[in-house]
Amino acid sequence: MIRLGIIGSGTGSNMWAIHQAITSGQLDAQIVTVLSDQPRSGILEKARSADLPHAVIDCAPFKQKFSPEAQLRTVQLLQDADVDLICLAGFMRIVGHPLLDAFPKRILNIHPSLLPAYPGLAAWEQAISDGAEKSGCTVHYVDSGIDTGGIILQKEVALRPNDTAETLHARIQAAEHIAYPEAIALVASHL
Ligand code: GAR
Repeated sequence: MIRLGIIGSGTGSNMWAIHQAITSGQLDAQIVTVLSDQPRSGILEKARSADLPHAVIDCAPFKQKFSPEAQLRTVQLLQDADVDLICLAGFMRIVGHPLLDAFPKRILNIHPSLLPAYPGLAAWEQAISDGAEKSGCTVHYVDSGIDTGGIILQKEVALRPNDTAETLHARIQAAEHIAYPEAIALVASHL
């Protein structure tokens, strides 16, 4: 059974979708650690509520930067939990070499667009202001670029004429919750 480490900064709805896919028997995996750089984040609250092992990544003194030292602390936490695969789920710091080198081809990310379209922040807003007809989500391997790693799986979401950033993001998130467990199963079948 594949051992997952999940890292996020936000509400943790993707972590929860993965957890539910496991508890419902759809995904043969185990969440062995949930890590966050935000001590009061929803993702840690959800991990606590489900009795999942969890910890805070100390990123001080930086608000946005993921320093090499903080990355090495993260490597230690992930190695201590003996993870097979790492899933970034709304983690808002840029992962660099200390972490990538410790887990080559073992770090996945979910992004709220059909990459390579709309990389970076608030991809759903980018799709709306671009007048796109469709967007969606992408699960991809993490490399040293921003949202540039090899694509594992994508799900399309059609834009509607009256879409706002909020309504589109909500539909993309619903697609993410299906895509992430599927992508993990796909990757696990090749490990
Ligand atoms: C997700 O929509 C994810 O695609 C996005 O953050 C959200 C986290 O939600 N990630 C990015 O924008 C990364 N560039 P969650 O905390 O509810 O899973």
